[in-house]
Amino acid sequence: MLNPDRLIVEFDKGLRTLFSQAHSVRPHPDANVPDAPLNDAEKKHAAALMRVNHSGEVCAQALYQGQALTARDPAVQQKLQQAAQEETEHLAWTAKRVHELGGHLSLLNPFWYTGSLVFGAVAGLLGDKWNLGFLAETERQVGEHLQSHLDRLPPQDEKSRAIVAQMHRDEISHAVMASSLGGAELPQTVQSAMKLNAKVMTTLAYRA
Ligand SMILES: [Fe+2]
Ligand SMILES: [Fe+2]
Repeated sequence: MLNPDRLIVEFDKGLRTLFSQAHSVRPHPDANVPDAPLNDAEKKHAAALMRVNHSGEVCAQALYQGQALTARDPAVQQKLQQAAQEETEHLAWTAKRVHELGGHLSLLNPFWYTGSLVFGAVAGLLGDKWNLGFLAETERQVGEHLQSHLDRLPPQDEKSRAIVAQMHRDEISHAVMASSLGGAELPQTVQSAMKLNAKVMTTLAYRA
């Protein structure tokens, strides 16, 4: 059952995700990595890839918040909070890197946020087994996507690579956690639909 107080708290979190700066408890993974020279085209490309990753993290915030809006086992909820905290750190790392590369965050973030919030809430309403299964599959797909960015980022852009590599490790551990908490494997058609949805988001966020 949706609780009005909870809705207000989550609405506030949404506004903060979209309009204020996220903070990281852990040091930024690129904190001690020196900047390498990048030409204009490389900078633009790296900024666009990191913008895509930032939008993915906006979606992650909404996904975890959507789940928090729906009833669930308090023990499971507590474990998900740790992962949600790491997602907030990913948001902080990617936003900072986009700006360092002279880029801007996606203008479409409010749309990604709203869509993911609905997905998260619907998954939450289906019960823990499917909710956690959806989360595990999302994290797995994000992990694959981040791996592909390690191939696409300019090789000398060690700062962006350090961030993406740590995010990749975190997302894989989130996937393992969600499965170990009892997440069911999603039907193949749902997995394919999720991939298609992610493809649309990443293509648009790369451009805007
Ligand atoms: Fe993340
Ligand atoms: Fe994650």
